[in-house]
Amino acid sequence: MKLDTIIHGGRLVTASDTTRTDLGMRGGKIVAIGQGLAKTHANGAKLVEAKGRYVIPGGVDVHVHLALPFCGTTSADDYDSGTRAGAAGGVTTLIDFAIPYGEESLQQAVDNWSSRAEGKACIDYAFHLAITNWKRQKKDISRMIDRGIPTFKQFMIYAKEGWQSDDADMYGALELLSELGGMLCVHAESSRVLDMLIERRHSRAEMKKHGAYLHTMTRPNFIEAEAIQRAIQWTKVTGGRLFVVHMSTGDGADLIKQAQEEGVKVLAETCAQYLVLDDDVFAGKDGHLYATCPQLKKPADQKRLWRGLKSGEVCSVSTDTCTFTRKQKAMWKGDWTKIPMGMPGLETLLPIVFTHGVLKRRLTVNEFVDKCCTTPARVMGLYPRKGGLHIGGDADIAIIHPTKKRKVDWRKMQTNCDWSPFQGWELAGFAEHTFCRGEQIVEDYKFVGRNGYGQFIPRSNPGLR
Ligand code: URP
Ligand code: ZN
Ligand code: ZN
Repeated sequence: MKLDTIIHGGRLVTASDTTRTDLGMRGGKIVAIGQGLAKTHANGAKLVEAKGRYVIPGGVDVHVHLALPFCGTTSADDYDSGTRAGAAGGVTTLIDFAIPYGEESLQQAVDNWSSRAEGKACIDYAFHLAITNWKRQKKDISRMIDRGIPTFKQFMIYAKEGWQSDDADMYGALELLSELGGMLCVHAESSRVLDMLIERRHSRAEMKKHGAYLHTMTRPNFIEAEAIQRAIQWTKVTGGRLFVVHMSTGDGADLIKQAQEEGVKVLAETCAQYLVLDDDVFAGKDGHLYATCPQLKKPADQKRLWRGLKSGEVCSVSTDTCTFTRKQKAMWKGDWTKIPMGMPGLETLLPIVFTHGVLKRRLTVNEFVDKCCTTPARVMGLYPRKGGLHIGGDADIAIIHPTKKRKVDWRKMQTNCDWSPFQGWELAGFAEHTFCRGEQIVEDYKFVGRNGYGQFIPRSNPGLR
């Protein structure tokens, strides 16, 4: 068989095995895995040397916001810089959230997001759809699933943005999606109590005294935990399927575990930042830069989230990439309720989880692949096309050095951001080479891809493991 590209001599890592063998690609697919391909099939094929490297499936980041109009501005990484950042970090597929604004329909949101992505994306992408007006939008859900978008998000906060859903909306969405085979993603924070806690502290004196630290002072862990508990309750009684996005607390992990033991169909992801940063950052000079919703929590939460990844109640790691530059973050002018919420992340997802997970022995290299590639693809209906290394799957591959570290420096990265939450950190696990559907998009740590190469990937019904 003629091959386009052969990866030679690396250790192929899947969610379950590590094998020293070669891998062959043709027409964008993985078509051969076996010893000695480089000898028997070299004939015209491009040979990529991977001796001493891990060859892993391309990362699948299922929680990304590119060019998102949010908090009075638009997030700074778009489908150009954001997908270049993904490629440089070994991520070959992302899922963004298409959000209807004002009276827009779900279809209009998809059209808006498609026009942002088309001609720009350098890696593959898919969309979740945000439900911002359940009564108006519910009639279109079935059609969206037929078009390859089987996952929907409801926000339990963000009334100001016009995105908030109430309990009845959530109940209705879970009920309908269970019938149609879709899955509901929720942003779980308890808005009533959160708003009250913010209101209590929202004074000049408090802001002068505490600055950006008020962000964490007004969002104790029970804000997330109560909301998760409520969402689980609606999932239980409707028989729906729930995916808790960007879970930041150990309390959340406890609730998910308990619900799963009771047979409730609930999964949860965390994000890289919740595993390695804590809320001390808000006390620093640039504390406001780190503001996200939900915010970074305590070291005890990090510990519990790592443990949850290991034992499974936390099924995957994503980024919640939502980049704002220093200038955008400066809109806060000392009032923490006005900070544009979000951080860059796509380029550092795999390096953070690899360095702080695998090299620190919290995860095996197979678990790393499982949490960052295979399980996110599986639960979001992208597997087996994405997320694995097997014959017939897309040739989405990252080749990483097992120990060699590179220093994070936003100046040398693909993101449009002019700061990094991990600036100066030494991380292993950056992509030395990245392939997306067989095309090399990173070579020797340099981005060599092109705008418009990335394709929209329609998804099948999401699968619970
Ligand atoms: O702070 C964040 N996470 N910004 C993006 C919107 C969201 O809630 O996911
Ligand atoms: Zn959210
Ligand atoms: Zn998000």
